[in-house]
Amino acid sequence: MRNIIIAGNWKMNKTFDEAGNFLKEISDFVKGKVIDNIDIIICPPSLYLEMTTDFADNKIFIGSQNVSNYEYGAYTGEISAKMLKSIDIDYCIIGHSERRKYFNESNQLINEKLKILQKFGIKPIVCIGETLEERESGITEKVITSQLKGVLKNVTINQDVIIAYEPIWAIGTGKTATPSQAQEIHNLIRKWLLENYSMKIAEDTSILYGGSVNPKNIKELLMKPDIDGGLIGGASLDIVKFKEIIRIALEI
Ligand code: PGA
Repeated sequence: MRNIIIAGNWKMNKTFDEAGNFLKEISDFVKGKVIDNIDIIICPPSLYLEMTTDFADNKIFIGSQNVSNYEYGAYTGEISAKMLKSIDIDYCIIGHSERRKYFNESNQLINEKLKILQKFGIKPIVCIGETLEERESGITEKVITSQLKGVLKNVTINQDVIIAYEPIWAIGTGKTATPSQAQEIHNLIRKWLLENYSMKIAEDTSILYGGSVNPKNIKELLMKPDIDGGLIGGASLDIVKFKEIIRIALEI
């Protein structure tokens, strides 16, 4: 059985104190509860990663929003997988559409990042997703498949690789893919894993949905058989909404 994963991607938001207060509140919220079936992952800005690991336990995990594709050396401003590992970071988002769009990240670069994360034992959360234009011209399937092929090229998957389907038109726009639209693509991804890896990998791999997830739509999304959790931007910044999402997930 795959655990439900509720992952918050804070992007470039929150001050140091706000980040600490949020983590403290989530950690207090989670403390008294039996949370066997849910993993909570918080991905704060890099600057706060070390501080936030103080709140990590067997329910709350910390993820980075990015990693360098280089292992070490003269790459000003970059953060390596080895550095992340040295402060016990468990997860790392790669391939987010904002990084693809604003920082020109290609499938090949994301593939390099994935391999370096695996080398250092950090679990990659690999984002894929189509633009509105691609969806409207009926090539969603083709785009998703080619992103999978590119980012997973020569990658041996174990159950530690998480895939996040994030339709670009649904990110930060308030437009969510309907649970059925999301399920359709999640199922396509799982079938692709079956064809290209194995039944076991297809069954064990967590596939998250991202794009305007909020307390109102999380339940219906999580009820779908191939949706294993959410990668949540806007609503993960708001403690009330984020706690509500966890509470709803707990009831599933
Ligand atoms: P959103 O962002 O929830 O604000 O749409 C999701 C994401 O970018 O991961």
